Amino acid sequence: QTVYLKDYTPPAYLIDHVELDFDIRADGTTVTSTLAMRRNPVATPATLVLDGEELHTLSVAVDGKPATYTETPTSLSLNDLPAAFTLQTVVRIQPDHNTRLSGLYRSTDGYFTQCEAQGFRRITWFIDRPDVMSRYTVTLHADQATYPVLLANGNPVAAGAEADGRHWATWEDPFKKPAYLFAVVAGKLDVLRDSFRTASGREVQLAIYVEPDKLDQCPHAMDALKKSMKWDEERFGLECDLDHYMIVAVGDFNMGAMENKGLNIFNTKYVLARSDVATDVDFENIDRVVAHEYFHNWTGNRVTCRDWFQLSLKEGLTVFRDQEFGADLHNRQTARIREVRGLRAAQFPEDAGPMAHPIRPASFVEINNFYTATVYEKGAEVIRMIQTLIGRDGFRAGMDEYFRRHDGQAVTCEDFVAAMAAASGFDFAQFMRWYNQPGTPHVAASGSFDAAAGRYTLRFTQSNPRASDAAPYLIPVRVALFDGEGHLLAGSEQTLQLTATEQEFHIDNLAAEPVPSLLRDFSAPVYLDFAYTPEQLTLLLAHESDPFNAWEAGQRLASTLILDAARAIAAGQSPQWPDSFAAAARRLLQTQAQRGAAFVAEALTLPGEGTLAEMMEVVDPDALHAARNALRRHLAEELEGEFSGLYAALAISEAYAPTAAQAGRRALRNVCLGYLMELDTDAARRLALQQFEKADNMTDQFAALASLANVNAELCPQREQALAAFYATWQDEALVVDKWLAVQSTSRRPDTLATVKALTAHPAFDAGNPNKIYALIRNFGANLVRFNAADGSGYAFMADRILDLHDRNPQVASRLARCFDRWKKFDDTRQDHARAALQRIRNHPDLSRDVLEVVTRSLGEA
Ligand code: ARG
Ligand code: ZN
Repeated sequence: QTVYLKDYTPPAYLIDHVELDFDIRADGTTVTSTLAMRRNPVATPATLVLDGEELHTLSVAVDGKPATYTETPTSLSLNDLPAAFTLQTVVRIQPDHNTRLSGLYRSTDGYFTQCEAQGFRRITWFIDRPDVMSRYTVTLHADQATYPVLLANGNPVAAGAEADGRHWATWEDPFKKPAYLFAVVAGKLDVLRDSFRTASGREVQLAIYVEPDKLDQCPHAMDALKKSMKWDEERFGLECDLDHYMIVAVGDFNMGAMENKGLNIFNTKYVLARSDVATDVDFENIDRVVAHEYFHNWTGNRVTCRDWFQLSLKEGLTVFRDQEFGADLHNRQTARIREVRGLRAAQFPEDAGPMAHPIRPASFVEINNFYTATVYEKGAEVIRMIQTLIGRDGFRAGMDEYFRRHDGQAVTCEDFVAAMAAASGFDFAQFMRWYNQPGTPHVAASGSFDAAAGRYTLRFTQSNPRASDAAPYLIPVRVALFDGEGHLLAGSEQTLQLTATEQEFHIDNLAAEPVPSLLRDFSAPVYLDFAYTPEQLTLLLAHESDPFNAWEAGQRLASTLILDAARAIAAGQSPQWPDSFAAAARRLLQTQAQRGAAFVAEALTLPGEGTLAEMMEVVDPDALHAARNALRRHLAEELEGEFSGLYAALAISEAYAPTAAQAGRRALRNVCLGYLMELDTDAARRLALQQFEKADNMTDQFAALASLANVNAELCPQREQALAAFYATWQDEALVVDKWLAVQSTSRRPDTLATVKALTAHPAFDAGNPNKIYALIRNFGANLVRFNAADGSGYAFMADRILDLHDRNPQVASRLARCFDRWKKFDDTRQDHARAALQRIRNHPDLSRDVLEVVTRSLGEA
């Protein structure tokens, strides 16, 4: 069942025009498809094989006459076809029973589609691959009162009433597109309308459709859409090509959102926001996801992927674009820090585990398993490196060249890089290794100073144990040098290009040994080792002008302390903290005015347990958890006065707005609250409860709830009170209920698994809704200390949930199975429990392909 990139061949047939008719009824939907087809002149003549899944075929006709065909559960084959012909098929599908949420499915307020990657074949027989591009005309028929809104890609051309209280609408998409960008919606939805005038004067009608009574949660997304449209014109000269741009929000959705041409379908999580129900982070995520799907209109839709191995062609590039948009809109410093935090928490472990793959995989069993942090986030880092190597202007020229060459085509990652090379003159031959190899490269750096010659030598060694060979990468390493007082040495900022396994660079005319700052702005997705002294790191934390590397210095300091403390705790000793760390944190707090509250909040947030676990030979989750919390408590004890003072000083008096300035203040204030809560005093708990009760916005209310949810006292009245009040207030807001579930499944408390189990039976939970499963179950799987309990109870629970879900929703079940990725990093006892859980899943009869691929790779069987 494995598909290989090297086996790519062009399609034997092309489909120029698609006419679809959907007759939507309670007992099923009838889909009539009329395809204008012809042989592909560049392909070798072959049998026509159409893809399908769970289709009940009613008829097949070629040029109006019943045809002879061979049908299997997943294919329909025809022979002896003329050079050009019309193929008509009629099928019945059951969207009301489509629990996979792929293809056409039912949700509370109507019918929705998700076709990427291979969902279109669940709607009709088709050549379901992205290099088959067609024009579509679509007609929908449904009951008028129950489904007043009928939408498809493109422009509305006609509509009317029918017998029995039904109505119909026809839409026409003027652009050729692959089937994965197809979408229809039939539902009872409210709509927020607006418009945008493009730079060249095109008037685009904008619409956001949401479940009834949620219009007051739409303005932020609409605003984000207009800002995205403007930003893409300014930064990349890219204008919207549509007359209608629609966004539809649905509460049942496997992923974040989908860029269907002119008719994006979104998870409600990335549309709905109001200050009392959404946090600053939610507002920012909505900006980024709305932008992401809009940016796909060029990077993905106008130029699409030749095959699914090229997924990062559109995803890595579009994530890079949404990151840049987010950085321009909010706070560039902290945006970069959060990107790297996310990369280290998700992508680095992925790249070191059983599912490791290059950003362009060479093979897959189930493509849905490759919508990963690697394809998306590492893919974006690879695009960012291209920009670093050829500069912003060079990158813009490369983008222009890419669209000049490939508009309207389905292309490969090589095509993209070739356009960048042509526009810039840069040789990317060696760089292509980033596309073809799994694993995170390690770069070991060292410095030596020749005082007599005034020469500083930086020496780099690179390696990647996961790669198939030892050839070196081209790695851009941004560096700068600082003197002993923390002054940046003039002229020392540069981008070094590592191209060899071992390499040296000299910097001359130095009076004294400098402190090097390496990999500034995180210029490449690598592990970088340098034997910094704590003094050097403290200096960089205080003085480095590149905010990312200032933050990084603090993370390095903290990581060393926590890992040492974990070893001590495991050996039955108590951890030791040097005075210098709290002193550095104190100085950091004092720089709040210059550095900004948002930066200080990030710098005071210790590296996450998952990131630290990657640095341990054998992970001891209990010792790691205890060590990290002990360092938090140490800071709280040393800096209690500062934290209380700042907490009071940072209160915001003006009305809530999700601006970067306000969000930064709230973030730092809530970091202070979090530290004060480490003191485990009644005063701190009362403070948290007071914030919880008085807050006029979800950011502050939720931060208070999250800190209370961690309290590990047998009886903590404030904790119980806040959790109960939160649910009572928000039980009818699905996205807020998700937060309530998440705050309990991510809790530090030892009884978290019992709580999570109990919550699976609570009315707030819905085992058919992906957001609920992610909030309660997947978050539990990311709770390092509780999921990896030594008795294996976390693993057994997760295996039960996966087996419960795998045939109803294989995509979501497969994502849960990824919680086991790092099982081999733990001790033998835990490994035995994890292996048993994985084997239990593996041995289940009729396991879905999605879960099977993940589990067999995890067990080392594939
Ligand atoms: N292309 C979408 C996005 O990144 C993601 C859709 C993925 N869907 C899936 N079933 N794998 O914006
Ligand atoms: Zn995308």
